[in-house]
Amino acid sequence: MTAVAKPLNGAAVSSHQNQRGDADETALKPVPGAGEIVLVASGKGGVGKSTVAVNLACALRHLGLTIGLLDADIFGPSVAGLLGTGEGLAVGEDGRAVPNERHGIHSVSLANVLAPEAAMPWKGPLVAQAVTQLFRDVAWPDLDVLVVDLPPGTGDVQLTILEQVPVAGAIVVTTPQRLSTVDAERGIALFHEHDIPIFGVVRNMGEYVCPCCGERQPLFDAGEVAAVARGAHVADLGQIPFDPDASARADAGTPLVVAEPDGPLVKAFLDLGRQVMAAIAREQRGRARRERQGDDQQAFWERLLDD
Ligand SMILES: Nc1ncnc2c1ncn2[C@@H]1O[C@H](COP(=O)(O)OP(=O)(O)O)[C@@H](O)[C@H]1O
Ligand SMILES: [Mg+2]
Repeated sequence: MTAVAKPLNGAAVSSHQNQRGDADETALKPVPGAGEIVLVASGKGGVGKSTVAVNLACALRHLGLTIGLLDADIFGPSVAGLLGTGEGLAVGEDGRAVPNERHGIHSVSLANVLAPEAAMPWKGPLVAQAVTQLFRDVAWPDLDVLVVDLPPGTGDVQLTILEQVPVAGAIVVTTPQRLSTVDAERGIALFHEHDIPIFGVVRNMGEYVCPCCGERQPLFDAGEVAAVARGAHVADLGQIPFDPDASARADAGTPLVVAEPDGPLVKAFLDLGRQVMAAIAREQRGRARRERQGDDQQAFWERLLDD
């Protein structure tokens, strides 16, 4: 018999706010314990978002950070499989879910609580509710960074997150072909529209590294993604080569960065991790500056009123 999944019980859904502060900014409530929230997005499915999200999480962990990973791909959750966290989610005394910890990553995914064969006939409000709960009904430990694996496109999940959660920045994954980059541009436009910092674009599966001689063979036109990044005024974060072992590693639940510490992809993911850390640090400096300016302006008006 096919099961029909119900969303988790709990948090109510609110909406109609954005990150600019020109609407009701109070609705952008911090997520306790989550640290800096980094979205991994794409326009198109199958370009490697989940692979990049999981391996970026492992790379950031390797670089010394405490990392969480939230699987926001409600209809196609991959994180549990990629990390090998097949088990359910424990529930703490306060009723919140406790993330699974594997490979040093604290993760939650709907795949941890739903049977694989469960149909999910969820319309927008239920999707929004599930997303909200994945952020807020989870007892995140004190994380430095929460990486969020998004579904493809610019739909309910993306909008719910952008309207409710303070996001440090987003990275956009694409393969270097027009079919994929045209949708990546739509994703970039959505983030621009919500004033979300875009840390940059990642080019995935653009070239093949020969395991025998290390020679690099381009699989697509290498210039395509750089042009998209230039056109959108966002950084080109470089590329992750095609790894023939990726699907076997995915099925085994061991991320490439963990399984192949000397493999060709590890350097690429560590490099990506360092760039994401630098982008977060830039965001934090900008935030501190804006707060200082806010204080200075307030002091200015208070002095003026006193005089
Ligand atoms: N760099 C890579 N090398 C080889 N295969 C990859 C790479 N990145 C992703 N894949 C494969 O491509 C497929 C789609 O990847 P996935 O991460 O699930 O994409 P998305 O989350 O965007 O739908 C999977 O089979 C995955 O193993
Ligand atoms: Mg995915």
